[in-house]
Amino acid sequence: PHGHTKDTRGRTLRDLRISVTDRCNFRCTYCMPKEVFDQNYPYLAHKELLSFEEIARLTSIFSTLGVEKIRLTGGEPLLRKNLEVLIEMLAKIPASDGKPLDLTLTTNGSILRKKAAALKAAGLHRLTVSLDGLDDAIFKKMNDVDFPVADVLDGIAAAQEVGFQNIKVNMVVKKGTNDHEIVAMAKHFKGSGVILRFIEFMDVGSSNGWNMEQVLPSKEVIARINEVFPLEPIEANYAGEVAQRWRYVDGSGEIGVISSVTQTFCHECSRARISTDGQMYLCLFANEGFDFKTLLRSGKSDLEIANAVMNTWAAREDHYSEIRGSNTAKLASGNRKVEMSYIGG
Ligand code: GTP
Ligand code: 5AD
Ligand code: SF4
Ligand code: SF4
Repeated sequence: PHGHTKDTRGRTLRDLRISVTDRCNFRCTYCMPKEVFDQNYPYLAHKELLSFEEIARLTSIFSTLGVEKIRLTGGEPLLRKNLEVLIEMLAKIPASDGKPLDLTLTTNGSILRKKAAALKAAGLHRLTVSLDGLDDAIFKKMNDVDFPVADVLDGIAAAQEVGFQNIKVNMVVKKGTNDHEIVAMAKHFKGSGVILRFIEFMDVGSSNGWNMEQVLPSKEVIARINEVFPLEPIEANYAGEVAQRWRYVDGSGEIGVISSVTQTFCHECSRARISTDGQMYLCLFANEGFDFKTLLRSGKSDLEIANAVMNTWAAREDHYSEIRGSNTAKLASGNRKVEMSYIGG
């Protein structure tokens, strides 16, 4: 009865991102900086996490409400024990039109070689791997745990070997840190079937020290690649797609740019997020979530929970990227935004 309810800005809920762990084996400086995420950091205890049954139940409820895509995130989702068991459960849940849900996952690729076959067998449809450069020194500086590029590339190769197609690679571009890797990355993945996407560095969370000087506008990314490998824009795959797509004129594939700073896409934002401990966040930049774990654990029916989701969605107003200032550090003090590792981007 609630399918396709619109929020106060006319937006429809289609996309659910579920964080399955708040832990990660990387310490990317823009996401989980070492100084904050040290051995004293209060990670969630196991009983605070949503169980696989709870995640599957929420997924069913959201699918009856019109959600078509489920993305598993983290932290690093492959660190969640037996993740393939969850994927198997989710792969059986149909969307409201009876078609299968689009089931996908964002990973840092570090243990993908070990997991790829199990993920494929469990029914995962698609994969996105984060990789911020090809130069070991730069990549290690960004992941801050000395993790080598070669192992991520090997993880991607393993995923291709077991049959994943159109794998996406996400590169967060930080001006002055890894922007000189842009053309090398494009060259490496051109013609490989992998879709490389460049993400503007964002001011998510409250600990990554963001400022506008570190953002390289996507327009500039395209200009730099176009100079070496000519590009032309192509149509979005679906309304509300986050990335703008470009193809190589020579036919060797496509790339994408995600310009959440310089060309905001809040007006079509179709995403809801479930944090590791079962809070629903509607905006990546929200200060607080809505406690669905308590609802799930208090004997409420699916219909009651569906009503709660839709009422929350209908009241939704946020459009953070459209109103961010050029420096949000001030805004963040005393007004903490949720960390990305907890809601999964
Ligand atoms: P496809 O399903 O393959 O189209 O991927 P996607 O673009 O939906 O998902 P992905 O997780 O790969 O998104 C890429 C990146 O875009 C994220 O890691 C975020 O950095 C950014 N992003 C995604 N959704 C939002 C959003 O709602 N707001 C903002 N500001 N950034 C977002
Ligand atoms: N700005 C842009 N992208 C980010 N990600 C994490 N933190 C940020 C940030 N501050 C990206 C990761 C990964 C995805 C989960 O989100 O690189 O691709
Ligand atoms: Fe881990 Fe991804 Fe965050 Fe890096 S961006 S610390 S790999 S969750
Ligand atoms: Fe959606 Fe918030 Fe991102 Fe805007 S900033 S696109 S409202 S998640």
